[in-house]
Amino acid sequence: MVSSLLALPSTFSRLNLVQKSSIFIPFTFKALSLLKFHKQPRLRPFNYRLLHFPSSLNSPEAHFSTSRRPVSSKSFDVDLVVLGIETSCDDTAAAIVRGNGEILSQVVSSQADLLARYGGVAPKMAEEAHSQVIDQVVQDALDKASLTERELSAVAVTIGPGLSLCLRVGVQKARRVAGSFNLPIISVHHMEAHALVARLIEKELQFPFLALLISGGHNLLVLAHDLGHYTQLGTTIDDAIGEAFDKTAKWLGLDMRKSGGPAVEQLAQEGDAESVRFSIPMKQHKDCNFSYAGLKTQVKLAIASRNIDAKVPLSCASSLDRSSRADIAASFQRVAVLHLEERCERAVEWALKIEPSIKHLVVSGGVASNQYVRARLDQVVQKYSLQLVCPPPNLCTDNGVMIAWTGIENFRVGRYDPPPPANDPDDFMYDLRPRWPLGEEYAEGRSEARSLRRARVHPSLTSLVQASLQQQ
Ligand code: KG4
Ligand code: ZN
Repeated sequence: MVSSLLALPSTFSRLNLVQKSSIFIPFTFKALSLLKFHKQPRLRPFNYRLLHFPSSLNSPEAHFSTSRRPVSSKSFDVDLVVLGIETSCDDTAAAIVRGNGEILSQVVSSQADLLARYGGVAPKMAEEAHSQVIDQVVQDALDKASLTERELSAVAVTIGPGLSLCLRVGVQKARRVAGSFNLPIISVHHMEAHALVARLIEKELQFPFLALLISGGHNLLVLAHDLGHYTQLGTTIDDAIGEAFDKTAKWLGLDMRKSGGPAVEQLAQEGDAESVRFSIPMKQHKDCNFSYAGLKTQVKLAIASRNIDAKVPLSCASSLDRSSRADIAASFQRVAVLHLEERCERAVEWALKIEPSIKHLVVSGGVASNQYVRARLDQVVQKYSLQLVCPPPNLCTDNGVMIAWTGIENFRVGRYDPPPPANDPDDFMYDLRPRWPLGEEYAEGRSEARSLRRARVHPSLTSLVQASLQQQ
């Protein structure tokens, strides 16, 4: 069985050696679609080799389901055990999750010290930091789950979007594990994972739903029609909200060791949110896009005009200085979130027109761990009788659970690659997608303020999945 598997053409793997040309992409996804899921419920213990190659490759139709219906047998879910690996930005994370959503382990090694020192992510240093800890992080995840690699069913790994140097570390590790232990591998979209982890937490959460994904690098409003099928209602034209929180924290001289957002949130509790008059971004643009660069500049100017010295740590500031910093933190947070609220209201209205059955707004990504953000957005959804779903804070910030869970969701519908070879050649080119839109843009929501060039150049996850489905 293994030999027939290894004899498969290299195009079978999305993570395999691929030419840089985007022409190649449909082939890799086409290849994916050939790997249909075999769903005989009597399979126990879980063994992908039985699933993929039950007896022969001669008549695939006899063995592989063409249905995209999720496999939902209880024993299947319990037997499925997936390792998730995440290294797209500054956290090295791994987790092991069962098909039924049980989290067996979760490990995150953060680069907070580097972040505090440089005030942002430096790709080369982040890559080194990932490389130093990746083996240990994965080993810890296995140890905490009391499992060995042999007991895994598959490995899921983020292939984008993110920093390619960093993504590469995770993908290399995933391929080493999958190759050595003959495990299928699942390529994961980082932002899809932020959205889908909400389905692990809230079992009632069905497609379609609306999602606001807010992190250090992304500000996305997406309508999730189905797994792998998203419409982008809005995105940022410049900076994401997390970046604005981080810079505000840095300029206010706050402790960045837990990233800037939590520090601003904490200080904001002491401040008067009405005291500094920042203007809400993009009021004149009646769309769902975001902009935080202007607000950042307003904060910088306010800090300069109050003679706040970021080199003086908050703990050493006079009480007047401290309250002045707190006022800026609170005022910034209020306006940053007002911008989210305004965009979300419009997005709910658009989403209800496109998919009238939506019942939930998912808010996820690092900034969704902010309690003020959650409270304000809860009020927005109540107006429309929708329900807000926010994963717990440790599943909002980057983590391995969301990658493992997204791997599980994709694995169930047959979207995975067979095991890679045990060793990749030195000149191996990985299928990394540093810029990778989640879905196509909603035509009515296009903003003149937003440059669409970047989004068009890179095929979205949705377009790749749709192309693959059409070829089935
Ligand atoms: O999703 P995430 O962990 O990584 C990215 O994919 O970017 O998000 C990190 C971002 C950082 O900008 C961090 O400052 C922000 O999430 N963040 C917060 C809070 N916790 C994390 N922002 C505001 N309030 C928080 N409590
Ligand atoms: Zn993230």
